[in-house]
Amino acid sequence: MTAPFVTFEGIEGSGKTTQILRLSGYLAGKGISHRVTREPGGTPLADEIRSLLLSQREEFVFPETELLLYEAARAQHVRSVILPSLSSGQAVLCDRFYDATSAYQGFSRNIDAARIDWLNDLASGGVSPDLTLLLDVPPADGFARIRGRGTRPDRIESESVEFHGKVREGYLRLLERHPGRIVRIDGTLPADDVFRRVRETVSARLGW
Ligand code: TMP
Repeated sequence: MTAPFVTFEGIEGSGKTTQILRLSGYLAGKGISHRVTREPGGTPLADEIRSLLLSQREEFVFPETELLLYEAARAQHVRSVILPSLSSGQAVLCDRFYDATSAYQGFSRNIDAARIDWLNDLASGGVSPDLTLLLDVPPADGFARIRGRGTRPDRIESESVEFHGKVREGYLRLLERHPGRIVRIDGTLPADDVFRRVRETVSARLGW
């Protein structure tokens, strides 16, 4: 039997990264073997692809190019990190996975959903999350948090509020499509309340 695979999703500034680290600390305290990783990234090659994708550039990046780069990073990450961990009994907490491709490249960039599903399946080698925590915040809240960081926004963060609004809508559609796997958590709540819900959910779903 393989270990659980848990993914975190949400728009920019939804608080995923904070919550994933808190969950990791909580699991470590309980002695549950796990690793934390993220997409795009997680291996040296996938991290290079991440830099290609997120750096600001003058050349226009076509949606199809973007899609294939995300999938290329995923193909590498799944085979060199996620699958080996899961099959050795180590749980995986992943900051974004293929739902992000459906929401960003599918819903927001308007690439046909059936093609995205096909590529997601190819890249993920059939690995599917056991549980996906969707931290839901309105784009205006997410933007305010990003601005509060004081760092220069990356290529995707620099997209319009409308773009991020469509991403959020995309995630809510995915929630309707996969009600057994995706759990929505209100990301506008104080971080401690969000974490309590994260803990309750992983306890109910995975016995953690
Ligand atoms: P992060 O900022 O949460 O680390 O994610 C990197 C960016 O890449 C974020 O803007 C979401 C975007 N993204 C996609 O557009 N498609 C994908 O498949 C993934 C994994 C991320």
